[in-house]
Order: sequence, then structure tokens, then C-alpha cells
Amino acid sequence: MAKDIHAKPFDEGTLIKLELFKRYFREWLPVFTKSQYKRIEIYDFFAGEGTDVEGTYGSPLILLDEVKPYCKEFKNNSTCVEIHFNDFSSKKILKLDENVSQKLLECSGENNYVFCKGDNGKINCPFIIRHHNRDFQTLFATEYSKFKSAPLIPRFMLIDQYGIKHVTTEVFNQLTNLPKTDFIFFISSNHIRRFKEHPGFAAYLDSSKLDFSESRPVECHRVIFNYYKSLLNGKKYFLGQFSIKKNSGIHGVIFGSSHPFGLEKFLSAAWKIDPHTGETNYDIDEDHIRTGQLSLDLDGTGNQDKIKKLAAFENELINFLKTAQTNQSIYIFALERGVSISKTNEILSGLEKANKLLFSGDDRRKGAFYLDYNHVKKINIQSK
Ligand SMILES: C[S@@+](CC[C@H](N)C(=O)[O-])C[C@H]1O[C@@H](n2cnc3c(N)ncnc32)[C@H](O)[C@@H]1O
Repeated sequence: MAKDIHAKPFDEGTLIKLELFKRYFREWLPVFTKSQYKRIEIYDFFAGEGTDVEGTYGSPLILLDEVKPYCKEFKNNSTCVEIHFNDFSSKKILKLDENVSQKLLECSGENNYVFCKGDNGKINCPFIIRHHNRDFQTLFATEYSKFKSAPLIPRFMLIDQYGIKHVTTEVFNQLTNLPKTDFIFFISSNHIRRFKEHPGFAAYLDSSKLDFSESRPVECHRVIFNYYKSLLNGKKYFLGQFSIKKNSGIHGVIFGSSHPFGLEKFLSAAWKIDPHTGETNYDIDEDHIRTGQLSLDLDGTGNQDKIKKLAAFENELINFLKTAQTNQSIYIFALERGVSISKTNEILSGLEKANKLLFSGDDRRKGAFYLDYNHVKKINIQSK
């Protein structure tokens, strides 16, 4: 049986996971408040009780904190925000209800419809909070028919499971078929590595597609990420990942969005947390610079002290640019390799300074690469 995460102070790995949830959600929400959608839905399917024993916020209270500053926009745009908190433990959902009420003391409610005072004390904030006390699989199956009948409602889903069981191949396919849903789920990747040959495992994931043979144990979340990527079967969809070492085990999160803009924002959050590789809280590639140690510079190039992932990305990028590429295709190229747009700009900037790039197309400002999806500028970049 899984340990109760709320019975102790959150460990460092959990805090990193929560920080990533928060930073992503903070970038996701304004996209939809600005676009004046009339309805936004947020699901925290494994919400827990709201805090750890020391009162540190868990995902539901973090989400509420992030939603509240947008009261004014919601009110002005008549946007209805529906927030769903679920946990199968009735004890936890009761405690969560108490914690949420405490948090919303300044609010008054009627039929679950809460009007909160905004930060300036004047604005009412319309959002609905619904608590569910159900097993994830049952709740997801019921809600999914609603998702399918209104697929264009922007939704954010957090699936903070213990272990590995809930985002089955089927659930993953259902999630990735929703065009306006972004999701983040947690998964204990090293459990998959250990139990993939176990009878019964096939009920969750297809072990024949999980190949750990070429990877080191510390990379097992990368393998899981590639497994989920393989399930896309060519579908245009954008996935991101972050590996988390927690109590000596390797776990991680998988992010998904049907829009590259979603992945851009996820990577921006991830690279702020890990400025070296944008994907871990540990030294996954034995990058000496990461641990503050300089290595022996055996070939005199200084390359040993470059982050391996970035050195490999730079080479791949130069190769990619052997034929001229548009700013939009470079944008997608970087996202698909898990490199943030600001990091990619930095690398291109270094290449431009070293006089290794040629530019054509629209006018450009020196040092600007216009890596975006909307393609406002059309420039072509080629390596010399
Ligand atoms: C990792 S904790 C979630 C922590 C929470 N996101 C937070 O930040 O505090 C997992 C939670 O899922 C609940 N849970 C476990 N199995 C579940 C299931 N099958 N369906 C719904 N909730 C479940 C547990 O009671 C626990 O509170």
C-alpha cells in the first residue's frame, strides 16, 4: 500500500513536482482568461487533503491561489471557472473541504457557486468548486463522456497518482484525443522498470513496447516518456517530461498538449526549475558542471564541461540547419527535443556571434530569431 504523502512534510521531490505544476498552471491560465472563453475547467483528480502536516500547500490549494488573481477577468468576461477536486479517501476529501473553506473565508457561496473577493477586496470572483469522492477510473469514465461532448472547453487536468496504474494506454489515448485539454500526470517510473514482467502489468501498459535495455536506471523516466510518445502513432500532439529523484527512486511527470504553445510553456517552467537540462532534479547525464566539479579536460577543448544534452542538441541543430529552415520549423524542432525556446535562442545567438549562420526572408533585428508558432515574421536560417 502507498504511504500517505500528507502524513509527513512533503519531501524535496514532491516540492519540485508541485513547483512544476504551479509554474505550468500559472502560464496556462492567462492564455484562456485573455481569450475570453466563457468556460474553463480544472481537474485535480488525486487532490489529497490540501496540505501536508506542516501546512505546506498541496496541489488543490496551489491551484486556488493561482486562480484567484484572475477574478477581475472572469467577472468582466463572464467566464465560468469550474474546479473539480477528487480523492477516493473520504477522510481526505472532508479535510480538503475544510481547507478550501478556510482558504476561501472571504468568500460567500450558494449551491457551490462561490463569489470571492479579489485581491483589491472589491471584485467578486465567480467559480464553482466541486468535490468528488470517487475512484479515478470511475470518475474519469463518467466525466469523459462530458469532455467528448464539449471538447472545445479549455481544460487543465492534474493526475497526481501514486504508482503507475491510472494513466493506462486507454486513458492516455482518451486524454490525447481532447483538442483543448492540457494534462500533467505523475508516474513512478522505476516501478515500471521493476514490475514490467509481472503478470497483470499488461492491464496498465504494453510491456513489449517498454525497452530499458539501452538505458541506465537513472534514465528510466526517459524510457517511459518514449513509451507514451510511441502511443501517439504519428498523431500531431506535444509531450514533455521531467524526471524526479525521490527517496532514491526515479519518478517523473509527463505533460501533454495538442498545441505546441502548451509544450513551450511547460518547457519554460521546466527549464526554470532545472537550468542545466530542463528535465531533472538530479545529475542524469553525469554532467560534472552540474555538481560544481570540473572534469579533466583531456582533449583541451573544454567540451567535457558542456552540458551533454545541450552539446548534442547544438550539433543536431547545426545539422538540421544545413538546409535552410523557417523560424517556425526551428521552434518545433527545439520543443520536440525538450529544449526551451529561450535556451534555443541562446544557442542560436552563440552561433550567430561565431558567424556560423546565414539569414534570409523578412527583415530581422540582429540577435532575434522569432521562434514562435504564430509566424509573425518569416525568416529562414541556414548554417554556413
Ligand atoms: C500523491 S497523492 C496526491 C497529492 C496531492 N496532489 C497534493 O499535492 O497534496 C495521491 C492521492 O490520491 C488518492 N488516491 C489514491 N488512489 C486513488 C484512486 N484510485 N482514485 C482517486 N484518488 C486516489 C490518495 O488518497 C492521495 O490523497
